[in-house]
Amino acid sequence: MQWPERYINHSCDPNSYVKTVSGRRLVIALRDLADGDEITYDYCINGDGATTWFCHCGAARCRRKIHSDFFHLPIELQLEYLPLLDDWFRAERATELNQLRAARAGEGAEVEEGFQGSEVGIEPCRWRRSRLSE
Ligand SMILES: C[S@@+](CC[C@H](N)C(=O)[O-])C[C@H]1O[C@@H](n2cnc3c(N)ncnc32)[C@H](O)[C@@H]1O
Ligand SMILES: [Zn+2]
Repeated sequence: MQWPERYINHSCDPNSYVKTVSGRRLVIALRDLADGDEITYDYCINGDGATTWFCHCGAARCRRKIHSDFFHLPIELQLEYLPLLDDWFRAERATELNQLRAARAGEGAEVEEGFQGSEVGIEPCRWRRSRLSE
């Protein structure tokens, strides 16, 4: 696993996501962060494989049993996360993503895609270490 993901725990109600922009891997805030907030992201964004684990994120919307593959998420969550997906994931999973968009279009709604949020302006040495054990 590469930086910066190495130090970020999963949450089912994440306050950031990781995306490659102009060749740089950015941690991008999804909402305002207060000093001392733990930065989290949802590991299933750009997630593949068939790893499962029990989540201890404590969020009200915690999914408890997590499957690593993006397309195992509930469809509403796939659609919510669609704008956050990295370009490499869009390319690798284009067929499934087109099916997702088609399903959504069939319901008459548009999904906005592209850069969302703002880059988290801190250095990795300031990140809080995990409250969760590995
Ligand atoms: C990339 S590391 C995250 C940082 C790591 N906790 C640390 O202290 O360096 C991923 C590992 O953290 C643990 N982890 C992260 N988020 C978790 C969560 N929401 N529930 C349970 N374990 C989690 C799991 O053991 C997972 O394999
Ligand atoms: Zn959770």
